[in-house]
Amino acid sequence: MDKDIKELYVAALKVKENAYAIYSNFYVGSALRTRNGKIFSGCNVENSSYGLTVCAERNAIFKMVSEGETGISEILVVGDTEKFLPPCGACRQVIAEFSNKDTKVFMCNKHGEFRKMTVGEILPFGFSLIEDR
Ligand code: THU
Repeated sequence: MDKDIKELYVAALKVKENAYAIYSNFYVGSALRTRNGKIFSGCNVENSSYGLTVCAERNAIFKMVSEGETGISEILVVGDTEKFLPPCGACRQVIAEFSNKDTKVFMCNKHGEFRKMTVGEILPFGFSLIEDR
């Protein structure tokens, strides 16, 4: 794992400790680097009304946008899993909104191993209102 990815991994592990996942016990952390080099992180936040749950990736992205940034250069997600944790379908769509097809997505497991893919690979033929995307 190179230094830049390690930095995102450490941030995602740290924020995962704050995950509010009392219903699923599935703790997720995500961290992203913006095109301007800033890091934002987020955890999953569940609710008694299950459908209101927000995933870690979307929380990280919404924090980024709230702070005035709209471009992701790389995003990482990690859970306490053996397998590499992929973003859910809803998060793929939200990631794509602030990415281009070459934006990197790092899907990690609890051992710090990861699979690297691009947004174009995890969301091919995605919906967008922006014509040239
Ligand atoms: N979850 C995420 O935070 N990110 C994903 O990409 C997949 C699912 C969360 C939502 C819920 O709190 C828990 O994992 C189980 O679905």
